[in-house]
Amino acid sequence: MDSFSATAARMPALRADIAAHPARHRILTGERPTGRLHLGHLLGTILERVRLQQEGVETFVVVADYQVITDRDSMGDIGANVHGVIRDNLAAGLDPERTTIFTHSAVPELNQLILPFLSLVSEAELHRNPTVKAEAAAAGRALSGLLLTYPVHQAADILFCKGTLVPVGKDNLPHVEVARQIARRFNERYGVVFPEPEGLITAAPELPGLDGRKMSKSYGNAISLGMTADETAAVIRRARTDSERQITYDPERRPGVSALLDTAAVCLGASPVEIAEEVGDGGSGALKSLAADAVNDFLAPHRERRAEIDSAMVSDVLRAGNERARQVAATTLDEVRSAMGMAY
Ligand code: TRP
Repeated sequence: MDSFSATAARMPALRADIAAHPARHRILTGERPTGRLHLGHLLGTILERVRLQQEGVETFVVVADYQVITDRDSMGDIGANVHGVIRDNLAAGLDPERTTIFTHSAVPELNQLILPFLSLVSEAELHRNPTVKAEAAAAGRALSGLLLTYPVHQAADILFCKGTLVPVGKDNLPHVEVARQIARRFNERYGVVFPEPEGLITAAPELPGLDGRKMSKSYGNAISLGMTADETAAVIRRARTDSERQITYDPERRPGVSALLDTAAVCLGASPVEIAEEVGDGGSGALKSLAADAVNDFLAPHRERRAEIDSAMVSDVLRAGNERARQVAATTLDEVRSAMGMAY
């Protein structure tokens, strides 16, 4: 069984355990602040995060600023991107009283964990990581030391707060496995400090972009959370469909039409086939207006809350989150140094 099927098979038992004993768990999850968040992020990961918080599981969210430069030379518009990520997480319902939101760069004790952790993995293991390989190929440039080792840095993200649950997309599962291995090896070598974290695969299926490919800002097929209702209607109107009047759900043959059906369906809580029947022979024009209305109605409350969150509030949340993350990281680093005999 591959690690995805193994994790998927474990989900019902894990979800039951979370519901029964929320206080036994701690969630660590994160975002790479390379751009603005879109509808796919909201449905796929952020709302899931909010549900887990509601269940009473303590949650940490890392805005992974050092991960921005794993595959590029520039930090980009990092200040605006960090603020945007936090604003959308708060607008979606993350409560800063219960959830710690922080950035890598503000927590030196977390970053220091990468030193002992690097000693616990081999070069061959680093090179075998399928996600790193795919990202290196996509970056189309020499593999940087940071790209090669970032799964170990991500293990520090997870283990600094003794995270037990890591909600991730499929592509990040190999990194959870790295964190498990590092926890196990550290505990064997120096005595037990870390729990072995488990990946939590989101219950929501991945929403395709408007052209049927993966939703991504770089493909220009994304509905950003920061768009106005008019901008949203405009990108939906520009989406490429086909000229068949009868609307049917057929992702293979009709990727554009089917992506619009998927989008409307998740926003309306219906199935894409039901939506197709509703539009019937109304053609792409009718489908697009239905999809635009569905998305705009769904996002209206998010956008309203987003507009109420100003930059000063985001800065306050981040300052408090960074402070709390540093306390937690300093405690863990002390335990690590003691376990390694370095408490001089
Ligand atoms: N690599 C994750 C992504 O690309 C972001 C991330 C950083 C993360 N640190 C993490 C996810 C720790 C889970 C746990 O989206």
